[in-house]
Amino acid sequence: MDTLNRYHQRLCRSPEWAAFVADSLVPRALDGVPLGDNVLELGPGYGASTQPLAERTASLTALESDPELASRLRAQLGQPVTVVDGDATSMTFGASTFSAVVCFTMLHHLPSSAAQDKLFAEAARVLVPGGVFAGTDSQPSWRFRLIHLADTCNPVDPGTLAARLTAAGFGQIRIDTSHGVVSFVARTAAAG
Ligand SMILES: C[S@@+](CC[C@H](N)C(=O)[O-])C[C@H]1O[C@@H](n2cnc3c(N)ncnc32)[C@H](O)[C@@H]1O
Repeated sequence: MDTLNRYHQRLCRSPEWAAFVADSLVPRALDGVPLGDNVLELGPGYGASTQPLAERTASLTALESDPELASRLRAQLGQPVTVVDGDATSMTFGASTFSAVVCFTMLHHLPSSAAQDKLFAEAARVLVPGGVFAGTDSQPSWRFRLIHLADTCNPVDPGTLAARLTAAGFGQIRIDTSHGVVSFVARTAAAG
């Protein structure tokens, strides 16, 4: 995988990370946020966030840019989740396809703010009117920097995130940094 160093890979596939993501990160970020019945996850990696997301929707698609990880996840999860190879900054899905787009701990793996803005615009495009865009990114700390030595590491700034999501076409934006991560929920404009 090109964006994670070996230590980071070990961490991301550990049972401890999977438990934290399933029991704390995802439930907190999605508390009171209905995802609807057709959800797209961006950057599933080893699947720590994919597993708990699959329990929250009827249909889950996961888009992963690393082909090795995508095929590993496909074998691991089987039928209930559709794993697609691709780049979240340039998606091949049609407009107004998904009821929700989510991404957990992946935005900092994009190489620049411009690439993150492309991802935001793509998320808005593939969402139905009134669709939900939600997720988390990590906050920088010395440990976080250490884990990402020689990795792509470009964490989103919570101070500018609302303006960037607005520019991508989102409204009803909520940003929370109270649990040691940046979590966000936003919506595309409702129809009519
Ligand atoms: C740190 S992992 C997070 C995985 C998972 N969401 C979790 O919580 O454990 C970030 C993942 O995003 C993927 N990724 C990075 N850039 C991407 C892009 N442009 N499109 C799709 N996936 C991407 C990486 O390959 C990696 O698997």
